[in-house]
Amino acid sequence: MQYDLTIIGSGPGGYVAAIRAAQLGMKTALIEKYDTLGGTCLNVGCIPSKALLDSSEHYHNASEHFAAHGIKVGSLEVDLARMIERKNEVVSQTVGGIDFLMKKNKVDVFHGVGAFKDAHTITVTDKGGDLKELTTKKTIIATGSKPITPAAFNYDKKRVITSTEALEIEKVPKKMVIIGGGVIGLELGSVFARLGTEIVVVEYLDRILPGMDSDCSKELTRSLKKLGMTFHLKHMVTKVTPAKSNVKIEVQKRDSDETFEITADYCLVAIGRRPYTEGLQLENASVSLDEKGRVIVDDHLQTTHPDIFAIGDVIRGAMLAHKAEEEGILVVEYLAGQKPHIDYNLIPGVVYTWPEVASVGKTEDELKEQKVEYKVGKFPYKALGRARASMDIDGMVKILADKTTDEVLGVHIVGARAADMISEAVVAMEYRASAEDIARMSHAHPTYTEAIREAALMATDDRALHI
Ligand code: FAD
Ligand code: NAI
Repeated sequence: MQYDLTIIGSGPGGYVAAIRAAQLGMKTALIEKYDTLGGTCLNVGCIPSKALLDSSEHYHNASEHFAAHGIKVGSLEVDLARMIERKNEVVSQTVGGIDFLMKKNKVDVFHGVGAFKDAHTITVTDKGGDLKELTTKKTIIATGSKPITPAAFNYDKKRVITSTEALEIEKVPKKMVIIGGGVIGLELGSVFARLGTEIVVVEYLDRILPGMDSDCSKELTRSLKKLGMTFHLKHMVTKVTPAKSNVKIEVQKRDSDETFEITADYCLVAIGRRPYTEGLQLENASVSLDEKGRVIVDDHLQTTHPDIFAIGDVIRGAMLAHKAEEEGILVVEYLAGQKPHIDYNLIPGVVYTWPEVASVGKTEDELKEQKVEYKVGKFPYKALGRARASMDIDGMVKILADKTTDEVLGVHIVGARAADMISEAVVAMEYRASAEDIARMSHAHPTYTEAIREAALMATDDRALHI
């Protein structure tokens, strides 16, 4: 079995790379250790979490907002087992789609653990222990990441859980403590808070979503508090002790000796993910890792072996599905002799809470740090006709533009449909638009995108039309 390209890992990085390689005429093999393709994203990440976010949002709207719209409903009941079943149906349809795409593109799929025998020989060991050997000219490592679970948190997959187990809970818990106020904590916290669970978030830093613009953190904190979530910022969990039917969480204030205990049904650990390279036997192929366990790559995503590349969560940078996809495409096009490029500054980040948060480019803190002179334009959702019509008035659009040239440097949105709206900002910034360029483009009325135009007008010279 001889291949031009072998890809280890079938997440959004790996399977997209396989499709692009097939398009460019490479004989391609894709190796996946699990039975289904699609990696973290399709099986236990992006897709199932969004399925549950949508279901829980429907319930929340029916119980909290329908009456104001003049819709009377009888008594409502959550059937979490059915929600999970629907989520599983969505996942199986989606991963089935990847099987179809691999067949359509004539990519050879092998299920089993991939490992390097040497730099050009990959072994695949399946569940039954059978071993196959592939010879390959080039290899892409796309093995993704796993949750970080410190020993003191006693991760037992029953009471102390990660996102993977949280996506399978079939009875609405009374109380859940979430360690980490990052993306997973807030998205899955929202799911359960909407269904009636008391959610307590313990975050080490002084704000939630520490990587995003601080105005977004503030806006979202307000909205999530309205949903009933509680936040202990600047606190750390020192120990988690699971019992049969509950779990004890010991918390300490970061700047003092003050401590307290919380007892809950579940403790969700969501403090980040680590690159996953176990079992690859990288030492047989001279592929080196950095101090954080990430595969070291250069600008072409080439590892310390010239015929081996790495992409996605297993290397440096944001752990996002669309970042992994872009990197898969970049490597394959580079191997085909093209000159692809990724502008990492323009990879958007989205948090699928409600309101949603979406961001691209520099945050205000980053511009301050880099001593860039900038202007700010902000526009609140509550001044938007479209937002009032749907009663989704929480949120704002914030545009940061260069003080001299007016070039847009960052766009940060909290609000309904922010996830889809951020694309306008990505397109504008890819073409190096000024705030005035955006302000002079027609935006359909009434839409949420008018808030982008108004924020651009504010950034240009404080001349929003509707405030
Ligand atoms: P993965 O998707 O992790 O795929 C790696 C694959 O490699 C896995 O299937 C694994 O089994 C396989 N593998 C590992 N080692 C071997 C081996 N030795 N042999 C064979 N196979 C192997 N990102 C977003 O952009 N948007 C979102 O909304 C979003 N939501 C998320 C929600 C949750 C709950 C989680 C956990 C993550 C979410 N992410 C989201 C992040 C996203 O899932 C990852 O960034 C993305 O999956 C990374 O893709 P990847 O291809 O690098 O790796
Ligand atoms: P994260 O990096 O987003 O957030 C982790 C949070 O935990 C941070 O706020 C951090 O300050 C805090 N923290 C770290 N150690 C702590 C400790 N000991 N005690 C208390 N707080 C602590 O990581 P998360 O939420 O686990 O997500 C992992 C990755 O998955 C992210 O990098 C994200 O990119 C990706 N993801 C993306 C989604 C999306 O794009 N919508 C959705 C879910 C996950």
